[in-house]
Amino acid sequence: MSTGGPADPALLLDGLKLPAPGGPRRPGHLRRAGRGPLTGATIRVRPARPEDEATCAALLQQIWAEGDAFLTYPDEAPGQVLPPNDPTGPAALVAEVDGALRGLAIARAAGLRRLAHCRTLELAVDAEARGGGVGGALLDALLDSLRARPTVRVLRLAVFADNAAAVALYSSRGFVEEGRRAGWSQEESGALRDDLLMRLEVHAR
Ligand SMILES: CC(C)(COP(=O)(O)OP(=O)(O)OC[C@H]1O[C@@H](n2cnc3c(N)ncnc32)[C@H](O)[C@@H]1OP(=O)(O)O)[C@@H](O)C(=O)NCCC(=O)NCCS
Repeated sequence: MSTGGPADPALLLDGLKLPAPGGPRRPGHLRRAGRGPLTGATIRVRPARPEDEATCAALLQQIWAEGDAFLTYPDEAPGQVLPPNDPTGPAALVAEVDGALRGLAIARAAGLRRLAHCRTLELAVDAEARGGGVGGALLDALLDSLRARPTVRVLRLAVFADNAAAVALYSSRGFVEEGRRAGWSQEESGALRDDLLMRLEVHAR
Protein backbone atom coordinates (compact mmCIF):
# COMPACT_ATOMS: atom_id res chain seq x y z
CA MET A 1 0.00 0.00 0.00
CA SER A 2 1.14 3.51 -0.74
CA THR A 3 1.87 5.53 2.34
CA GLY A 4 2.03 8.78 0.42
CA GLY A 5 4.41 11.39 1.73
CA PRO A 6 6.34 14.32 0.40
CA ALA A 7 7.32 12.30 -2.68
CA ASP A 8 3.63 12.21 -3.59
CA PRO A 9 2.87 15.93 -4.09
CA ALA A 10 -0.40 15.26 -5.91
CA LEU A 11 -1.83 14.24 -2.54
CA LEU A 12 -0.86 17.46 -0.75
CA LEU A 13 -4.07 19.42 -0.54
CA ASP A 14 -4.80 22.93 0.64
CA GLY A 15 -8.38 22.34 1.75
CA LEU A 16 -10.10 19.77 3.91
CA LYS A 17 -12.90 18.98 1.53
CA LEU A 18 -11.01 18.62 -1.74
CA PRO A 19 -10.76 15.11 -3.12
CA ALA A 20 -7.28 13.98 -4.09
CA PRO A 21 -6.77 14.44 -7.82
CA GLY A 22 -6.96 11.33 -9.92
CA GLY A 23 -9.06 9.12 -7.69
CA PRO A 24 -10.29 8.36 -4.21
CA ARG A 25 -8.28 9.41 -1.21
CA ARG A 26 -6.19 6.70 0.40
CA PRO A 27 -4.58 6.15 3.75
CA GLY A 28 -1.30 7.97 3.51
CA HIS A 29 -2.68 11.07 1.87
CA LEU A 30 -1.84 14.48 3.20
CA ARG A 31 -3.99 17.47 3.99
CA ARG A 32 -3.56 20.87 5.50
CA ALA A 33 -5.32 21.48 8.80
CA GLY A 34 -8.09 23.96 8.22
CA ARG A 35 -8.97 25.78 11.43
CA GLY A 36 -7.71 26.97 14.79
CA PRO A 37 -4.19 26.56 16.12
CA LEU A 38 -3.38 23.86 13.55
CA THR A 39 -4.12 25.98 10.51
CA GLY A 40 -1.51 25.25 7.90
CA ALA A 41 -0.12 22.19 9.68
CA THR A 42 0.25 19.06 7.57
CA ILE A 43 -2.00 16.16 8.49
CA ARG A 44 -0.71 12.80 7.28
CA VAL A 45 -2.86 9.69 7.68
CA ARG A 46 -1.20 6.30 7.41
CA PRO A 47 -1.79 2.71 8.56
CA ALA A 48 -0.77 2.10 12.16
CA ARG A 49 2.39 0.09 12.70
CA PRO A 50 3.14 -2.21 15.65
CA GLU A 51 5.67 0.31 16.93
CA ASP A 52 2.87 2.90 17.28
CA GLU A 53 1.32 0.87 20.13
CA ALA A 54 2.93 2.79 23.01
CA THR A 55 2.15 6.22 21.52
CA CYS A 56 -1.44 5.22 20.78
CA ALA A 57 -1.83 3.82 24.30
CA ALA A 58 -0.52 7.08 25.78
CA LEU A 59 -2.87 9.12 23.59
CA LEU A 60 -5.85 7.03 24.65
CA GLN A 61 -4.81 7.24 28.31
CA GLN A 62 -5.06 11.04 28.06
CA ILE A 63 -8.46 10.86 26.39
CA TRP A 64 -9.80 8.30 28.87
CA ALA A 65 -8.64 10.63 31.66
CA GLU A 66 -10.78 13.42 30.16
CA GLY A 67 -13.64 11.19 31.25
CA ASP A 68 -16.45 12.13 28.87
CA ALA A 69 -16.04 10.33 25.54
CA PHE A 70 -15.24 6.69 26.33
CA LEU A 71 -16.44 4.11 28.83
CA THR A 72 -12.89 3.16 29.80
CA TYR A 73 -11.25 4.64 32.91
CA PRO A 74 -7.46 5.03 32.63
CA ASP A 75 -6.92 2.17 35.10
CA GLU A 76 -9.06 -0.12 32.94
CA ALA A 77 -6.74 0.03 29.93
CA PRO A 78 -6.62 -3.13 27.84
CA GLY A 79 -3.28 -4.86 27.44
CA GLN A 80 -3.10 -3.70 23.84
CA VAL A 81 -4.95 -0.83 22.19
CA LEU A 82 -4.13 -1.48 18.53
CA PRO A 83 -6.16 -4.32 17.04
CA PRO A 84 -4.72 -7.51 15.64
CA ASN A 85 -3.86 -7.74 11.97
CA ASP A 86 -6.87 -7.64 9.63
CA PRO A 87 -6.17 -9.60 6.42
CA THR A 88 -8.62 -7.43 4.45
CA GLY A 89 -6.69 -4.19 5.03
CA PRO A 90 -5.45 -1.81 7.73
CA ALA A 91 -7.23 -2.34 11.05
CA ALA A 92 -6.07 1.02 12.34
CA LEU A 93 -4.93 4.33 10.90
CA VAL A 94 -3.02 7.05 12.68
CA ALA A 95 -2.84 10.77 11.97
CA GLU A 96 0.41 12.66 12.28
CA VAL A 97 0.27 16.45 12.54
CA ASP A 98 3.59 17.92 11.50
CA GLY A 99 5.11 14.53 12.24
CA ALA A 100 3.61 13.94 15.71
CA LEU A 101 1.00 11.24 16.21
CA ARG A 102 -2.19 13.06 17.28
CA GLY A 103 -5.07 10.73 16.42
CA LEU A 104 -6.14 7.22 15.56
CA ALA A 105 -9.06 5.43 13.94
CA ILE A 106 -9.69 1.74 14.45
CA ALA A 107 -11.98 -0.51 12.42
CA ARG A 108 -12.20 -3.45 14.78
CA ALA A 109 -13.22 -6.88 13.53
CA ALA A 110 -15.12 -9.17 15.89
CA GLY A 111 -13.19 -12.23 14.80
CA LEU A 112 -16.40 -14.20 14.08
CA ARG A 113 -17.27 -15.46 10.59
CA ARG A 114 -20.91 -14.33 10.89
CA LEU A 115 -19.64 -10.80 11.56
CA ALA A 116 -16.94 -10.80 8.89
CA HIS A 117 -18.87 -8.10 6.99
CA CYS A 118 -18.85 -5.70 9.96
CA ARG A 119 -16.29 -3.50 11.65
CA THR A 120 -16.66 -1.34 14.76
CA LEU A 121 -15.22 2.17 14.70
CA GLU A 122 -13.15 3.78 17.44
CA LEU A 123 -11.91 7.31 16.81
CA ALA A 124 -9.85 9.65 18.96
CA VAL A 125 -7.89 12.86 18.48
CA ASP A 126 -5.56 14.53 20.96
CA ALA A 127 -7.42 17.38 22.71
CA GLU A 128 -4.96 20.00 21.48
CA ALA A 129 -5.44 18.91 17.88
CA ARG A 130 -9.24 18.90 17.79
CA GLY A 131 -11.26 21.11 15.52
CA GLY A 132 -8.61 21.32 12.82
CA GLY A 133 -9.72 18.50 10.55
CA VAL A 134 -7.75 15.58 12.00
CA GLY A 135 -10.79 13.50 12.99
CA GLY A 136 -12.44 14.11 9.63
CA ALA A 137 -9.26 13.19 7.77
CA LEU A 138 -8.91 9.96 9.75
CA LEU A 139 -12.51 8.95 9.21
CA ASP A 140 -12.45 9.78 5.50
CA ALA A 141 -9.27 7.76 5.00
CA LEU A 142 -10.67 4.83 6.94
CA LEU A 143 -13.86 4.88 4.88
CA ASP A 144 -11.84 4.97 1.66
CA SER A 145 -9.90 1.97 2.89
CA LEU A 146 -13.03 0.04 3.83
CA ARG A 147 -14.72 0.87 0.52
CA ALA A 148 -11.83 -0.84 -1.25
CA ARG A 149 -12.69 -4.10 0.54
CA PRO A 150 -15.72 -5.87 -0.97
CA THR A 151 -16.18 -8.15 2.03
CA VAL A 152 -16.64 -5.30 4.51
CA ARG A 153 -20.19 -3.97 4.29
CA VAL A 154 -21.07 -2.26 7.56
CA LEU A 155 -19.23 0.07 9.94
CA ARG A 156 -20.87 0.43 13.35
CA LEU A 157 -20.12 2.55 16.38
CA ALA A 158 -21.43 3.55 19.77
CA VAL A 159 -21.19 7.16 20.88
CA PHE A 160 -22.45 9.01 23.93
CA ALA A 161 -25.59 10.85 22.93
CA ASP A 162 -24.23 14.08 24.44
CA ASN A 163 -20.95 13.93 22.45
CA ALA A 164 -22.07 16.59 19.99
CA ALA A 165 -18.78 16.86 18.11
CA ALA A 166 -18.57 13.14 17.42
CA VAL A 167 -22.25 12.77 16.53
CA ALA A 168 -21.97 15.69 14.10
CA LEU A 169 -18.89 14.19 12.49
CA TYR A 170 -20.49 10.77 12.06
CA SER A 171 -23.75 12.22 10.73
CA SER A 172 -21.83 14.34 8.23
CA ARG A 173 -20.22 11.17 6.85
CA GLY A 174 -23.55 9.37 6.42
CA PHE A 175 -23.86 7.35 9.63
CA VAL A 176 -27.46 6.82 10.69
CA GLU A 177 -28.76 6.19 14.17
CA GLU A 178 -30.01 2.65 14.68
CA GLY A 179 -30.74 2.75 18.37
CA ARG A 180 -30.39 4.51 21.68
CA ARG A 181 -29.39 2.78 24.88
CA ALA A 182 -30.93 4.70 27.74
CA GLY A 183 -28.71 4.92 30.80
CA TRP A 184 -26.01 2.81 29.13
CA SER A 185 -23.24 4.34 31.26
CA GLN A 186 -23.21 5.16 34.96
CA GLU A 187 -20.87 7.89 36.16
CA GLU A 188 -19.22 7.73 39.59
CA SER A 189 -21.78 10.32 40.72
CA GLY A 190 -24.53 7.85 39.84
CA ALA A 191 -25.68 9.92 36.85
CA LEU A 192 -26.72 7.87 33.85
CA ARG A 193 -25.85 8.69 30.23
CA ASP A 194 -27.45 7.43 27.03
CA ASP A 195 -25.48 6.32 24.03
CA LEU A 196 -26.37 6.05 20.36
CA LEU A 197 -25.67 3.12 18.09
CA MET A 198 -24.87 4.31 14.57
CA ARG A 199 -24.32 2.47 11.32
CA LEU A 200 -22.87 3.23 7.90
CA GLU A 201 -23.41 1.01 4.85
CA VAL A 202 -19.86 1.19 3.56
CA HIS A 203 -20.59 0.69 -0.14
CA ALA A 204 -23.77 2.82 -0.34
CA ARG A 205 -23.20 6.19 -1.95
C1 LIG B 1 -14.81 13.48 17.84
C2 LIG B 1 -13.40 13.83 17.39
C3 LIG B 1 -12.70 12.56 16.95
C4 LIG B 1 -13.48 14.82 16.21
O1 LIG B 1 -12.15 15.08 15.78
P1 LIG B 1 -11.73 16.54 15.29
O2 LIG B 1 -10.35 16.45 14.76
O3 LIG B 1 -11.98 17.52 16.37
O4 LIG B 1 -12.79 16.76 14.11
P2 LIG B 1 -12.63 17.69 12.83
O5 LIG B 1 -11.94 18.96 13.19
O6 LIG B 1 -12.07 16.88 11.74
O7 LIG B 1 -14.16 18.03 12.51
C5 LIG B 1 -14.91 17.15 11.70
C6 LIG B 1 -16.38 17.40 11.91
O8 LIG B 1 -16.71 17.09 13.26
C7 LIG B 1 -17.74 17.96 13.71
N1 LIG B 1 -17.24 18.69 14.86
C8 LIG B 1 -15.96 18.76 15.28
N2 LIG B 1 -15.90 19.47 16.42
C9 LIG B 1 -17.15 19.86 16.69
C10 LIG B 1 -17.74 20.59 17.75
N3 LIG B 1 -17.00 21.06 18.77
N4 LIG B 1 -19.08 20.77 17.74
C11 LIG B 1 -19.84 20.28 16.74
N5 LIG B 1 -19.32 19.58 15.69
C12 LIG B 1 -18.00 19.38 15.69
C13 LIG B 1 -18.11 18.82 12.57
O9 LIG B 1 -19.15 18.13 11.88
C14 LIG B 1 -16.86 18.83 11.72
O10 LIG B 1 -17.21 19.08 10.42
P3 LIG B 1 -16.68 20.39 9.67
O11 LIG B 1 -15.30 20.03 9.24
O12 LIG B 1 -17.63 20.54 8.55
O13 LIG B 1 -16.70 21.51 10.65
C15 LIG B 1 -12.62 14.54 18.55
O14 LIG B 1 -13.40 15.60 19.03
C16 LIG B 1 -12.25 13.62 19.69
O15 LIG B 1 -11.29 12.86 19.63
N6 LIG B 1 -13.00 13.69 20.79
C17 LIG B 1 -12.71 12.88 21.98
C18 LIG B 1 -12.85 11.42 21.70
C19 LIG B 1 -14.19 11.10 21.09
O16 LIG B 1 -15.21 11.71 21.38
N7 LIG B 1 -14.18 10.08 20.23
C20 LIG B 1 -15.38 9.57 19.64
C21 LIG B 1 -15.97 8.58 20.58
S1 LIG B 1 -17.33 7.72 19.81
